[in-house]
Amino acid sequence: KIENHLRPQMLADYIGQEKAKETLKIYIEAAKAREEPLDHVLFYGPPGLGKTTLAGIIANEMDVNLKITSGPAIEKPGEMAAILNNLQEGDVLFVDEIHRLNRQVEEVLYPAMEDYAIDIMIGKGASARSIRLELPKFTLVGATTRAGMLTAPLRDRFGVVNRMEFYTVEELKTILLRSAKVLEVGIDSKGADALARRSRGTPRLANRLLKRVRDFAQVKYDGYITEEVANYALDLLDVDKEGLDQTDRRLLLVMIEKFLGGPVGLDTLAAAIGEDAGTIEDVYEPYLLMNGFIQRTPRGRIVTDHAYRHLGISREIIEK
Ligand code: ADE
Repeated sequence: KIENHLRPQMLADYIGQEKAKETLKIYIEAAKAREEPLDHVLFYGPPGLGKTTLAGIIANEMDVNLKITSGPAIEKPGEMAAILNNLQEGDVLFVDEIHRLNRQVEEVLYPAMEDYAIDIMIGKGASARSIRLELPKFTLVGATTRAGMLTAPLRDRFGVVNRMEFYTVEELKTILLRSAKVLEVGIDSKGADALARRSRGTPRLANRLLKRVRDFAQVKYDGYITEEVANYALDLLDVDKEGLDQTDRRLLLVMIEKFLGGPVGLDTLAAAIGEDAGTIEDVYEPYLLMNGFIQRTPRGRIVTDHAYRHLGISREIIEK
Protein backbone atom coordinates (compact mmCIF):
# COMPACT_ATOMS: atom_id res chain seq x y z
CA LYS A 1 0.00 0.00 0.00
CA ILE A 2 1.21 3.49 -0.79
CA GLU A 3 0.98 5.88 2.17
CA ASN A 4 -0.84 8.85 0.71
CA HIS A 5 -4.55 9.27 1.15
CA LEU A 6 -4.76 11.85 -1.64
CA ARG A 7 -3.86 9.15 -4.15
CA PRO A 8 -6.75 7.34 -5.81
CA GLN A 9 -6.70 3.57 -5.24
CA MET A 10 -8.75 2.40 -8.22
CA LEU A 11 -8.83 3.28 -11.91
CA ALA A 12 -12.38 4.65 -11.68
CA ASP A 13 -11.21 7.35 -9.22
CA TYR A 14 -8.18 8.36 -11.28
CA ILE A 15 -8.62 11.68 -13.10
CA GLY A 16 -6.88 12.45 -16.41
CA GLN A 17 -4.38 10.45 -18.53
CA GLU A 18 -7.43 9.28 -20.47
CA LYS A 19 -5.50 7.30 -23.06
CA ALA A 20 -3.41 5.38 -20.53
CA LYS A 21 -6.49 4.80 -18.39
CA GLU A 22 -8.70 3.50 -21.22
CA THR A 23 -6.08 1.09 -22.53
CA LEU A 24 -4.97 -0.14 -19.09
CA LYS A 25 -8.59 -0.85 -18.22
CA ILE A 26 -8.84 -3.25 -21.17
CA TYR A 27 -5.48 -4.93 -20.55
CA ILE A 28 -6.30 -5.45 -16.88
CA GLU A 29 -9.71 -6.93 -17.65
CA ALA A 30 -8.23 -9.26 -20.30
CA ALA A 31 -5.36 -10.42 -18.07
CA LYS A 32 -7.74 -11.10 -15.19
CA ALA A 33 -10.08 -13.11 -17.42
CA ARG A 34 -7.12 -15.23 -18.56
CA GLU A 35 -5.88 -15.49 -14.95
CA GLU A 36 -2.47 -14.28 -16.06
CA PRO A 37 -0.33 -11.43 -14.76
CA LEU A 38 -0.56 -8.16 -16.68
CA ASP A 39 2.18 -7.62 -19.25
CA HIS A 40 5.07 -5.35 -18.19
CA VAL A 41 4.18 -1.64 -18.26
CA LEU A 42 6.42 1.41 -18.77
CA PHE A 43 5.38 4.96 -17.83
CA TYR A 44 7.51 7.86 -18.96
CA GLY A 45 7.25 11.61 -18.63
CA PRO A 46 7.84 14.54 -16.24
CA PRO A 47 7.69 13.96 -12.47
CA GLY A 48 4.49 14.34 -10.45
CA LEU A 49 2.04 13.21 -13.14
CA GLY A 50 0.93 9.96 -11.51
CA LYS A 51 3.30 7.16 -12.51
CA THR A 52 3.61 5.72 -8.99
CA THR A 53 -0.11 6.19 -8.40
CA LEU A 54 -0.92 4.15 -11.52
CA ALA A 55 1.46 1.38 -10.44
CA GLY A 56 -0.45 1.17 -7.15
CA ILE A 57 -3.77 1.16 -8.99
CA ILE A 58 -2.61 -1.67 -11.28
CA ALA A 59 -1.72 -3.77 -8.21
CA ASN A 60 -5.08 -2.98 -6.56
CA GLU A 61 -7.08 -3.72 -9.71
CA MET A 62 -5.21 -7.00 -10.25
CA ASP A 63 -5.63 -7.76 -6.54
CA VAL A 64 -1.93 -8.46 -5.99
CA ASN A 65 0.87 -7.04 -3.84
CA LEU A 66 2.90 -3.99 -4.83
CA LYS A 67 6.64 -3.95 -4.19
CA ILE A 68 8.37 -0.59 -4.74
CA THR A 69 12.03 0.03 -5.49
CA SER A 70 14.11 2.33 -7.69
CA GLY A 71 16.96 2.19 -10.18
CA PRO A 72 19.61 3.78 -7.94
CA ALA A 73 18.58 1.65 -4.92
CA ILE A 74 19.62 -1.65 -6.51
CA GLU A 75 23.38 -1.85 -6.77
CA LYS A 76 24.12 -5.52 -7.41
CA PRO A 77 22.62 -8.22 -9.67
CA GLY A 78 22.13 -10.41 -6.58
CA GLU A 79 19.91 -7.78 -4.98
CA MET A 80 17.66 -7.69 -8.03
CA ALA A 81 17.59 -11.50 -8.12
CA ALA A 82 16.55 -11.60 -4.45
CA ILE A 83 13.75 -9.06 -4.97
CA LEU A 84 12.40 -11.01 -7.94
CA ASN A 85 12.68 -14.33 -6.15
CA ASN A 86 10.74 -13.01 -3.15
CA LEU A 87 7.73 -11.88 -5.18
CA GLN A 88 4.50 -13.80 -5.03
CA GLU A 89 2.72 -15.07 -8.12
CA GLY A 90 1.21 -12.12 -10.03
CA ASP A 91 2.79 -9.35 -7.92
CA VAL A 92 3.61 -5.91 -9.30
CA LEU A 93 7.23 -4.78 -8.97
CA PHE A 94 7.46 -1.01 -9.42
CA VAL A 95 10.91 0.28 -10.38
CA ASP A 96 11.05 4.07 -10.29
CA GLU A 97 13.84 5.86 -12.22
CA ILE A 98 14.39 2.62 -14.09
CA HIS A 99 16.82 4.33 -16.49
CA ARG A 100 19.29 4.50 -13.59
CA LEU A 101 19.70 0.72 -13.18
CA ASN A 102 23.28 -0.28 -13.84
CA ARG A 103 24.09 -2.56 -16.72
CA GLN A 104 24.59 -5.81 -14.78
CA VAL A 105 21.44 -5.32 -12.74
CA GLU A 106 19.49 -4.53 -15.90
CA GLU A 107 20.71 -7.76 -17.48
CA VAL A 108 19.07 -9.77 -14.68
CA LEU A 109 15.77 -8.26 -15.81
CA TYR A 110 15.95 -9.52 -19.41
CA PRO A 111 15.27 -13.23 -18.78
CA ALA A 112 13.13 -12.31 -15.77
CA MET A 113 10.80 -10.21 -17.90
CA GLU A 114 10.85 -12.54 -20.87
CA ASP A 115 10.73 -16.01 -19.31
CA TYR A 116 10.14 -15.41 -15.57
CA ALA A 117 13.56 -16.90 -14.87
CA ILE A 118 17.06 -15.83 -13.91
CA ASP A 119 20.38 -17.39 -14.79
CA ILE A 120 22.81 -17.79 -11.93
CA MET A 121 26.51 -18.52 -12.44
CA ILE A 122 28.01 -21.11 -10.13
CA GLY A 123 31.62 -22.17 -9.87
CA LYS A 124 34.69 -20.52 -11.36
CA GLY A 125 36.93 -20.87 -14.40
CA ALA A 126 36.57 -24.05 -16.45
CA SER A 127 33.95 -25.60 -14.16
CA ALA A 128 31.73 -22.49 -14.16
CA ARG A 129 28.22 -23.06 -15.39
CA SER A 130 24.91 -21.33 -15.16
CA ILE A 131 21.74 -22.71 -13.69
CA ARG A 132 18.29 -21.40 -14.37
CA LEU A 133 16.06 -20.38 -11.47
CA GLU A 134 12.34 -20.17 -12.17
CA LEU A 135 10.61 -17.07 -10.77
CA PRO A 136 7.01 -16.41 -9.85
CA LYS A 137 5.17 -14.74 -12.72
CA PHE A 138 5.07 -10.99 -12.08
CA THR A 139 4.40 -7.62 -13.68
CA LEU A 140 7.22 -5.12 -13.90
CA VAL A 141 6.01 -1.52 -13.88
CA GLY A 142 8.85 0.82 -14.81
CA ALA A 143 8.87 4.60 -14.55
CA THR A 144 11.29 7.06 -16.04
CA THR A 145 11.41 10.76 -16.77
CA ARG A 146 13.13 9.99 -20.04
CA ALA A 147 12.25 7.05 -22.28
CA GLY A 148 15.21 8.01 -24.45
CA MET A 149 17.58 7.03 -21.64
CA LEU A 150 16.45 3.39 -21.65
CA THR A 151 18.52 0.82 -23.50
CA ALA A 152 16.73 -0.76 -26.47
CA PRO A 153 16.74 -4.30 -24.96
CA LEU A 154 15.00 -3.05 -21.81
CA ARG A 155 12.52 -0.81 -23.61
CA ASP A 156 11.59 -3.62 -26.01
CA ARG A 157 10.61 -5.93 -23.13
CA PHE A 158 7.72 -3.73 -22.03
CA GLY A 159 4.47 -4.83 -23.66
CA VAL A 160 2.68 -1.61 -22.71
CA VAL A 161 4.29 1.84 -22.99
CA ASN A 162 2.50 4.98 -21.80
CA ARG A 163 3.54 8.60 -22.10
CA MET A 164 2.28 10.71 -19.19
CA GLU A 165 0.70 14.02 -20.22
CA PHE A 166 0.34 17.27 -18.32
CA TYR A 167 -3.16 17.69 -16.83
CA THR A 168 -5.66 20.27 -18.04
CA VAL A 169 -6.91 22.99 -15.68
CA GLU A 170 -10.30 21.22 -15.56
CA GLU A 171 -8.70 17.91 -14.57
CA LEU A 172 -6.59 19.58 -11.88
CA LYS A 173 -9.67 21.35 -10.58
CA THR A 174 -11.49 18.04 -10.18
CA ILE A 175 -8.48 16.55 -8.37
CA LEU A 176 -8.24 19.61 -6.08
CA LEU A 177 -11.92 19.48 -5.16
CA ARG A 178 -11.54 15.79 -4.28
CA SER A 179 -8.35 16.45 -2.28
CA ALA A 180 -10.01 19.33 -0.41
CA LYS A 181 -12.76 16.94 0.67
CA VAL A 182 -10.19 14.43 1.91
CA LEU A 183 -8.30 17.20 3.77
CA GLU A 184 -11.60 18.57 5.07
CA VAL A 185 -10.97 22.11 3.90
CA GLY A 186 -13.63 24.25 2.25
CA ILE A 187 -12.87 25.60 -1.24
CA ASP A 188 -15.08 27.25 -3.84
CA SER A 189 -14.96 26.75 -7.59
CA LYS A 190 -13.00 29.95 -8.24
CA GLY A 191 -10.49 29.09 -5.53
CA ALA A 192 -9.96 25.66 -7.08
CA ASP A 193 -9.64 27.27 -10.50
CA ALA A 194 -6.96 29.71 -9.31
CA LEU A 195 -5.00 26.86 -7.74
CA ALA A 196 -5.38 24.63 -10.78
CA ARG A 197 -4.11 27.33 -13.14
CA ARG A 198 -0.96 27.73 -11.11
CA SER A 199 -0.15 24.05 -10.64
CA ARG A 200 2.04 23.54 -13.71
CA GLY A 201 -0.24 20.83 -15.07
CA THR A 202 0.96 18.60 -12.21
CA PRO A 203 -1.28 16.93 -9.58
CA ARG A 204 1.58 16.47 -7.10
CA LEU A 205 2.17 20.22 -7.16
CA ALA A 206 -1.57 20.98 -7.04
CA ASN A 207 -1.95 18.91 -3.88
CA ARG A 208 1.17 20.45 -2.33
CA LEU A 209 -0.04 23.99 -3.05
CA LEU A 210 -3.48 23.09 -1.70
CA LYS A 211 -1.94 22.17 1.66
CA ARG A 212 0.00 25.43 1.81
CA VAL A 213 -3.00 27.53 0.79
CA ARG A 214 -5.04 25.72 3.45
CA ASP A 215 -2.52 26.98 6.04
CA PHE A 216 -3.02 30.57 4.86
CA ALA A 217 -6.79 30.13 4.84
CA GLN A 218 -6.69 28.83 8.39
CA VAL A 219 -4.43 31.49 9.87
CA LYS A 220 -5.18 34.63 7.85
CA TYR A 221 -8.77 34.01 6.73
CA ASP A 222 -11.72 32.03 8.05
CA GLY A 223 -10.47 28.63 6.90
CA TYR A 224 -12.24 28.68 3.55
CA ILE A 225 -10.29 28.83 0.25
CA THR A 226 -11.59 31.46 -2.17
CA GLU A 227 -9.93 32.94 -5.24
CA GLU A 228 -8.64 35.79 -3.08
CA VAL A 229 -7.06 33.46 -0.52
CA ALA A 230 -5.52 31.26 -3.24
CA ASN A 231 -4.05 34.22 -5.10
CA TYR A 232 -2.73 35.83 -1.92
CA ALA A 233 -1.00 32.62 -0.83
CA LEU A 234 0.34 31.71 -4.26
CA ASP A 235 1.83 35.19 -4.73
CA LEU A 236 3.68 34.74 -1.43
CA LEU A 237 4.82 31.27 -2.58
CA ASP A 238 6.27 32.87 -5.74
CA VAL A 239 4.12 30.80 -8.06
CA ASP A 240 2.98 33.13 -10.84
CA LYS A 241 -0.29 33.29 -12.79
CA GLU A 242 0.93 30.75 -15.37
CA GLY A 243 2.28 28.38 -12.74
CA LEU A 244 5.93 29.29 -13.24
CA ASP A 245 8.08 29.13 -10.11
CA GLN A 246 11.31 30.96 -9.31
CA THR A 247 13.51 28.45 -11.16
CA ASP A 248 11.34 28.59 -14.29
CA ARG A 249 11.55 32.38 -14.33
CA ARG A 250 15.28 32.41 -13.56
CA LEU A 251 15.85 30.05 -16.47
CA LEU A 252 13.96 32.34 -18.84
CA LEU A 253 15.65 35.47 -17.46
CA VAL A 254 19.14 34.02 -17.83
CA MET A 255 18.33 33.00 -21.42
CA ILE A 256 17.19 36.56 -22.10
CA GLU A 257 19.83 38.51 -20.22
CA LYS A 258 22.92 36.39 -20.82
CA PHE A 259 22.11 34.83 -24.18
CA LEU A 260 19.81 37.45 -25.78
CA GLY A 261 16.95 34.96 -25.85
CA GLY A 262 19.02 32.19 -27.42
CA PRO A 263 19.68 29.93 -29.13
CA VAL A 264 21.59 28.48 -26.22
CA GLY A 265 22.71 24.88 -25.70
CA LEU A 266 21.43 22.84 -22.76
CA ASP A 267 24.84 22.41 -21.09
CA THR A 268 25.70 26.10 -21.42
CA LEU A 269 22.36 27.03 -19.89
CA ALA A 270 22.78 24.49 -17.10
CA ALA A 271 26.19 25.93 -16.17
CA ALA A 272 24.78 29.49 -16.25
CA ILE A 273 21.96 28.82 -13.79
CA GLY A 274 23.81 26.20 -11.73
CA GLU A 275 21.33 23.38 -12.33
CA ASP A 276 21.94 19.87 -13.56
CA ALA A 277 21.33 19.58 -17.34
CA GLY A 278 19.26 16.42 -16.87
CA THR A 279 17.03 18.17 -14.33
CA ILE A 280 16.44 21.09 -16.68
CA GLU A 281 15.56 18.69 -19.48
CA ASP A 282 13.28 16.41 -17.42
CA VAL A 283 11.71 18.76 -14.90
CA TYR A 284 11.71 22.35 -16.17
CA GLU A 285 11.73 22.23 -19.94
CA PRO A 286 8.69 20.03 -20.65
CA TYR A 287 6.23 22.51 -19.08
CA LEU A 288 7.95 25.55 -20.59
CA LEU A 289 7.96 23.89 -24.02
CA MET A 290 4.36 22.77 -23.82
CA ASN A 291 3.14 26.20 -22.82
CA GLY A 292 5.15 28.01 -25.46
CA PHE A 293 7.68 29.83 -23.25
CA ILE A 294 10.64 28.27 -25.02
CA GLN A 295 11.24 26.42 -28.27
CA ARG A 296 13.84 23.89 -29.29
CA THR A 297 15.79 24.56 -32.47
CA PRO A 298 18.69 22.61 -33.99
CA ARG A 299 21.04 25.30 -32.61
CA GLY A 300 19.65 25.30 -29.08
CA ARG A 301 16.77 26.62 -26.98
CA ILE A 302 15.17 30.00 -27.71
CA VAL A 303 12.83 32.18 -25.64
CA THR A 304 9.49 32.95 -27.32
CA ASP A 305 7.62 36.27 -27.60
CA HIS A 306 5.07 34.81 -25.21
CA ALA A 307 7.75 34.48 -22.52
CA TYR A 308 8.98 38.07 -23.05
CA ARG A 309 5.40 39.31 -22.67
CA HIS A 310 4.79 37.15 -19.62
CA LEU A 311 7.90 38.51 -17.91
CA GLY A 312 7.12 42.07 -19.05
CA ILE A 313 10.40 42.43 -20.89
CA SER A 314 10.82 44.08 -24.27
CA ARG A 315 13.12 42.38 -26.76
CA GLU A 316 14.31 45.74 -28.12
CA ILE A 317 15.59 47.06 -24.79
CA ILE A 318 17.58 43.90 -24.11
CA GLU A 319 19.09 43.73 -27.57
CA LYS A 320 20.53 47.26 -27.42
N1 ADE B 1 -4.51 12.71 -6.89
C1 ADE B 1 -3.30 12.81 -7.45
N2 ADE B 1 -3.36 12.49 -8.75
C2 ADE B 1 -4.63 12.15 -9.01
C3 ADE B 1 -5.31 11.73 -10.19
N3 ADE B 1 -4.69 11.59 -11.34
N4 ADE B 1 -6.62 11.48 -10.08
C4 ADE B 1 -7.24 11.63 -8.92
N5 ADE B 1 -6.67 12.03 -7.80
C5 ADE B 1 -5.37 12.29 -7.84
